[in-house]
Amino acid sequence: MSEFDQPQLSVLFTAEQIQARIRALGAAITADYAGRSPLLVVVLKGAVPFAADLVRTIDLAVTMDFIAVSSYGASTKSSGEVRLLKDLDASLREQEVIIVEDIVDTGLTLSYLLDMFRRRGAASVRVAALLDKPERRQREVHVTYVGFTIPNEFVVGFGLDYAERYRNLPYVAILNPSL
Ligand code: XMP
Ligand code: MG
Repeated sequence: MSEFDQPQLSVLFTAEQIQARIRALGAAITADYAGRSPLLVVVLKGAVPFAADLVRTIDLAVTMDFIAVSSYGASTKSSGEVRLLKDLDASLREQEVIIVEDIVDTGLTLSYLLDMFRRRGAASVRVAALLDKPERRQREVHVTYVGFTIPNEFVVGFGLDYAERYRNLPYVAILNPSL
């Protein structure tokens, strides 16, 4: 899919820029967790492309699990409500958890997950997010591994969707707000 087939999109980060950033994040995680075996908790569905690339850059004996929560519907506005749609397969007691997210926006999703994982007895919980949109933050959350910080624009691609579309784009783009 070329940029010219998508006139409603303007590219923010190219596939090459994203891959370079992911390699750097993977190297940082590999160094920070040397000798340990962190559990990557992937937040479905948006974080799947990021997690798939990130995990292959981490040179450690990692494990993976998946969780699904809902915060946005088919709209570009947050409902402010978080609901657990699919829980983890396994206990995370004593585990060193790295939550893998596509984007941190209001922070509501992450603060819900951080609270829940700490209550469940995780040994540590950190966050890796491809994108950080700090302008709209409603909850203070620390994101240790950030791909890119972005302005307050609605973005799609590399896992991020608008009404379930565009997740397959290998780049991140701003969606024209007139659409
Ligand atoms: P919160 O507000 O809880 O949001 O930090 C996290 C979730 O909101 C979605 N989100 C977006 N999805 N383009 C998208 O396609 C965006 O610009 C955007 N901003 C937030 C996303 O699902 C994320 O996991
Ligand atoms: Mg999401």
